[in-house]
Amino acid sequence: QKPKILLARSVFPDLLAELEKVAIVQSNQDDHLWNAVDLKAALADKDAAIITGSERIDADMLKASPQLKIVSNIAVGYNNLDMPAFKAANVMATNTPDVLTDTTADFGFTLMMATARRLTESEHWLRAGHWGKFSICDAPLSMDIHHSTLGIMGMGRIGQAIAKRARGFNMKVTYFNRSRLSEDLEKECGATYVDRETLLKQSDHIILVMPYTPENHHLFGEKELNLMKPTATLVNIARGGIVDELALAKALKENKIFGAGLDVFEGEPKVIPELLALKNVVLAPHMASATEKTRRAMIQLAIKNCLAGLNGQTPPNLLKA
Ligand code: GLV
Ligand code: GLV
Repeated sequence: QKPKILLARSVFPDLLAELEKVAIVQSNQDDHLWNAVDLKAALADKDAAIITGSERIDADMLKASPQLKIVSNIAVGYNNLDMPAFKAANVMATNTPDVLTDTTADFGFTLMMATARRLTESEHWLRAGHWGKFSICDAPLSMDIHHSTLGIMGMGRIGQAIAKRARGFNMKVTYFNRSRLSEDLEKECGATYVDRETLLKQSDHIILVMPYTPENHHLFGEKELNLMKPTATLVNIARGGIVDELALAKALKENKIFGAGLDVFEGEPKVIPELLALKNVVLAPHMASATEKTRRAMIQLAIKNCLAGLNGQTPPNLLKA
């Protein structure tokens, strides 16, 4: 008897075909977004589910899915999973760390550079025919990356990979994290620990890479934005809910900070009109891990985690509640 698996979103067809050799798969190659009612119904008769961060799984769904053994997230972040409910229901949960670290760090850097150097705004300016109308001092002027101070909030694997990239740009790298890195790791990353307020006040570029937990919901609001330099940029590749987006839009509109680069949004895939109306924000559709190679590796790892759990083995990336 093959296990029944929900594969909630579309994946590369060859990976789906491989999974179908060993399981009865309910797939979604049309890639429709799920609402809670339909997701609960789809889970009800499944032994396992492979999902993305867009699908939330709560206590109610777990209660209604008596066969469910494991939920495998195709993402490193797992704020979409109600972990205490998983523990209570005795359902395993897994994520996909490591395989996306460098790709995601690359994109954090991309977004920081695009924001500081006003890349998308300048391209719109060029496309609108403004090139040639202004002097070299009127062109979109921007902020330097090299020799500036970077503040990394959240110093997990991705934060550390960003720190290592920053050294090549001669940046001064500071970080804030719930727990301090070991001295050896600090040295390897070339990063100095500072308290949160110091990081906010001294950084030229701040990048958010911490996990999203109830404690850091809207952690970045008016007060934090007011502490930042007016020349500084803020980049968020973590989760949208960490930033109070209305406060950020207001700060950007009033030029309290220089710019922001956002890959994640609280209501994604919707972006609030207050942000869409601004020029000094670079907007990306949650694509930090989206290279073909890395997305393949994430899906393959999620499948591996799922099958290990179903076969009675400990999945390589089992999460603790
Ligand atoms: C993407 O945001 C992830 O958590 O992998
Ligand atoms: C997780 O939060 C990571 O940084 O890999």
